[in-house]
Amino acid sequence: MKFDTPATSNPIDRGRVVGLPHDRIDGPAKVTGTAPYAYERHDAAPNAAYGWIVGSAIAKGRIGAMDLRAAEAAPGVLAIITHQNAGQLGKGDMNTAHLLGGPQIEHFEQAVAVVIADTLENARDAAGQLRIDYIPERGRFDLAAERSKAAVPKGGFGGEPDSKAGDFEGAFAKAAVRIDRHYTTPDQSHAMLEPHATTAAWNGDKLTLWTSNQMVAWAVGEMAKTLKIPKANIRVVAPYIGGGFGAKLFLRADALLAALGARAVGRPVKVAIARPQIPNNSTHRPATIQRIRLGASRDGIIDAVGHESWSGDLPGGSPEIAAQQTRQLYRGAHRMTTHRLTTLDLPEGNAMRAPGEAVGMLALEIAMDELAEACGIDPVELRIRNDVQYDPEAGPERPFSSRKFVECLREGAQRFGWDRRNPRPGQVRDGRWLIGMGMAAAFRGNLVLASGARVGVDMRGHVTVETDMTDIGTGSYTIIGQTAAEMLGVPLDAVTVRLGDSRYPVSAGSGGQFGANSSTAGVYAACVALRAKLAEAAGFPADQALFEDGLVRLGNQSKKLGAMAGRDGLWAEDRIEFGDLTQRYAQATFGAHFCEVGVDIDTAEVRICRMGGAFAAGRILNPKSARSQVIGAMTMGVGAALMEELAVDTRFGFFVNHDMAEYMVPVHADIPEQDVLFIEELDDKSSPMKAKGVGELGICGVGAAVANAIYNATGVRIRDYPITIDKML
Ligand code: MOS
Repeated sequence: MKFDTPATSNPIDRGRVVGLPHDRIDGPAKVTGTAPYAYERHDAAPNAAYGWIVGSAIAKGRIGAMDLRAAEAAPGVLAIITHQNAGQLGKGDMNTAHLLGGPQIEHFEQAVAVVIADTLENARDAAGQLRIDYIPERGRFDLAAERSKAAVPKGGFGGEPDSKAGDFEGAFAKAAVRIDRHYTTPDQSHAMLEPHATTAAWNGDKLTLWTSNQMVAWAVGEMAKTLKIPKANIRVVAPYIGGGFGAKLFLRADALLAALGARAVGRPVKVAIARPQIPNNSTHRPATIQRIRLGASRDGIIDAVGHESWSGDLPGGSPEIAAQQTRQLYRGAHRMTTHRLTTLDLPEGNAMRAPGEAVGMLALEIAMDELAEACGIDPVELRIRNDVQYDPEAGPERPFSSRKFVECLREGAQRFGWDRRNPRPGQVRDGRWLIGMGMAAAFRGNLVLASGARVGVDMRGHVTVETDMTDIGTGSYTIIGQTAAEMLGVPLDAVTVRLGDSRYPVSAGSGGQFGANSSTAGVYAACVALRAKLAEAAGFPADQALFEDGLVRLGNQSKKLGAMAGRDGLWAEDRIEFGDLTQRYAQATFGAHFCEVGVDIDTAEVRICRMGGAFAAGRILNPKSARSQVIGAMTMGVGAALMEELAVDTRFGFFVNHDMAEYMVPVHADIPEQDVLFIEELDDKSSPMKAKGVGELGICGVGAAVANAIYNATGVRIRDYPITIDKML
């Protein structure tokens, strides 16, 4: 099914199942420990051996000599795989550094060996007995020091490195009110709960990977390139995933080393990237330096907006596209954005939840707070005055598909009690706490990707959906089940959803908040095809048949779905493909974040008092799972504001705080109250579901709301994240 004209009314609009806050259908399996994760597939791959990854002890250089003798003689060791015996490996397109390094070393903790043994303990013990001599070279590890060497990036997420409209420099120079500030954001780690993990098994030349990966079809393709074997010989299975946040978009070392290990020892092998290895072995969100210039009239109307971003990555890597949202969020005839990339020999930078906007909004939305103060205008009102209903770079001929930004600002402010805020900083005191309120916009682009599914009904009228879509903790199982139930007129418990297997039709996968809308639209397409088959079997014209109560009806005639199924069931497969509606219309999701904080007058400790937000993201497919996505993202944004930072050792080139004891993330006790309002919106240009993404919107801007609340509480403006106590004093 090609989606290239706006959606008209369709069965999803009935809202009997879609749009209701159903509990997650995978919930019972998750909380009873019966949902098998990649490392736990003892059922599917019995008698597995264990691999332990050995990471490079230098950041850049090469291996001089390796002495494996002691490790090979250690108890239980079955094989040791290094670049010397791994065979000729290719490289996928999506990872920057090689997943198995040597003799060249590209970054600290890059895998240089995997030790396979009968137990995890024996593998780890032997790994400690490898003797590796390195010949180090000088590396570049300090973004601030390397910024002056930054160049125009060749590629990267999201298109052109630069954009411009009008005459930014001229208009900025003439503006009555000018803001010109630098902001910095640090390297961050995904810190998902389930580490990267894979169980691999070979059957002849056929490889099966039970792995923790957001993008099943990409994993198949990348593994085929790396091992130089046909895609048809690889099966990837990923039904349950304990979080991803972008860390699992791409093939990582666990999958490759498990496959190599299993081939070497002739039995299944499990490999996980151990928690302390993750920040340096895997990917991270790159640090940024950002300069924002805003030129406005005295009444806050923006005329000139400029956003420049600098980040670093390994040779061949890509930039963090932090200025992305500034191309579309606010009005202004004179505009410019640039992304510049410098070479850093730190571990590989890549996508983390809302790449681009998550850190771009941290900067832009402080700048807007500074502009509001400079103009003497309320920050909510400033944003309302600068709303624009079309893509401001392209002009009125490219409107937004839907944009309820102003509604989010108004209703969010009202629910939060924004009118109780004292605009003068440092005025409100509650015992030893200085109290402040801050707000920020939320913005994240709406992406769509082609997505396929097949749907079948059996003799009992039970429906089964199969697609290689993943559920990384987001609720995919449930919204996909709801979609099929709505389309076929059956209750949710009459639907079985099977996900995460490369034997199923290729889906959008989970990433970039495109998963929910795209994958349910694919299920919608397959259901349209199945409805046609069912109607035909019932002898009804497909365009007049109604599907409800487990029946297909025409007038007062009806037949049970199961009656048309036959012994093998009746199946249909289709895929949604998206035409040019994403070019003709700007598509994005919007919101407004509000936050109240207390700052200890003596210690500068910051505590969140309460948070609230209003969000417009098209049809909300399941308000319960959507709310969970938003509150999780808001919580992650508090981490970005106050805690999260991979500390770089700029002498040796690695992230020092490489475990959950030292890489701080917020916990429940840090977030006492979160209120989430979804603004009603149907977007007929986004998909037949009329939904948009919501999984990343909640993290975009929220950290700036925290920063602005701290400023309102104290009068101290911090522009370098995270806002830790040392910066406040
Ligand atoms: Mo998201 S960073 O595309 O998983």
